[in-house]
Amino acid sequence: MSTELQPLNERDRTELARGRADEPLVRVLELAYVTFEKPDLEASERFLTDFGLVRVERTEDAIYLRGHGEDPYCYVLRRGDTPRFAGFGLRAASIDDLRRLVEHAGASPIEPVDGPGGGQRVRSTAPNGLEVHVVCGREAAPRLPIRPPLSANFVSEKVRLNAAQRPPVAPAQVHRLGHVVLQTCHHSRMLLWLMRTFGLIVSDYQALADRPEAGPVIAFLRCDRGETPSDHHTIAVAAGFAESFEHAAFEVQDLDAVAMGGEHLRRRGWKHSWGVGRHLLGSQIFDYWRDPDGMMHEHYTDGDLFDASVPTATSPFGRGSLAQWGPPLPRDFFDTSMSPRKAIQLVSALFQSEDLSLGKLIGVAKALSR
Ligand SMILES: [Fe+2]
Repeated sequence: MSTELQPLNERDRTELARGRADEPLVRVLELAYVTFEKPDLEASERFLTDFGLVRVERTEDAIYLRGHGEDPYCYVLRRGDTPRFAGFGLRAASIDDLRRLVEHAGASPIEPVDGPGGGQRVRSTAPNGLEVHVVCGREAAPRLPIRPPLSANFVSEKVRLNAAQRPPVAPAQVHRLGHVVLQTCHHSRMLLWLMRTFGLIVSDYQALADRPEAGPVIAFLRCDRGETPSDHHTIAVAAGFAESFEHAAFEVQDLDAVAMGGEHLRRRGWKHSWGVGRHLLGSQIFDYWRDPDGMMHEHYTDGDLFDASVPTATSPFGRGSLAQWGPPLPRDFFDTSMSPRKAIQLVSALFQSEDLSLGKLIGVAKALSR
């Protein structure tokens, strides 16, 4: 899809309002991996190991890490001059889907996937410039052992008798990669690309309560797996004036895995961001930590699962709309600082973006300060 500035047409607006495309090219199943470029691979690996990922393979210029589930890897650390989020991989159901992406979406020719597990992939570039791969045929890895869910004593049901509750203070044993959150000034174009190319559907929009006509501030998109339930969001896209990575999120077993995993990270000296709390949209119990370069990584558990029958909803955006409970949102959770470089980005985004306005940006800043 072109990123040239073009006004949205009637069909664009209709599909954005419905939160799904009439005829998507393919319907992807889930995220496969995230890729980060780092000058210091070892420092990032130390964080990720404490976070609960496990190294699978090391080459001269890359480290591949996995969770405890069946994915051969879900995280690639690639050597680069500056720390940056390079992109993500999505898992397709079949090689036919890859062929369709080559023929109709301008993806690269089909090639082998690098790293453990093999498989095949195509590469494309998102409207916001990120590398997006679509993979299929990766070999499942044997699961790694994971602590079973703790047995909890409820008011209405006591199941743990003559036994103490002692979860270990240890890394959180990440099960799998769940979602990524991005910010872009090409919000509508990015949503249309994700919906039309990969079949993603919007679970929830959040918009400014006093300026709904300005369009969504953030969209939470899930994979369309028909009657099979899918995570409430696999990709969330916020509207802003910069292209940025917000966070990547990884599923863990239960609340104690979130909290004890955080305790382990705290004891190892890593920087905490926000949590423990329960999100509103997606309902996950969450905890956010920053890697050595300040990039945010989320542990979560107990997220919502929706099948394709659940329609798109819209609710108001604001500081208080991100969590049902938890500590106050830290001021630095969203980077709202201003610098000469960012002022230039802002002016450029206002000229380039088909759906961004100064009024909307001021409304977002106000909503976050309340
Ligand atoms: Fe998240």
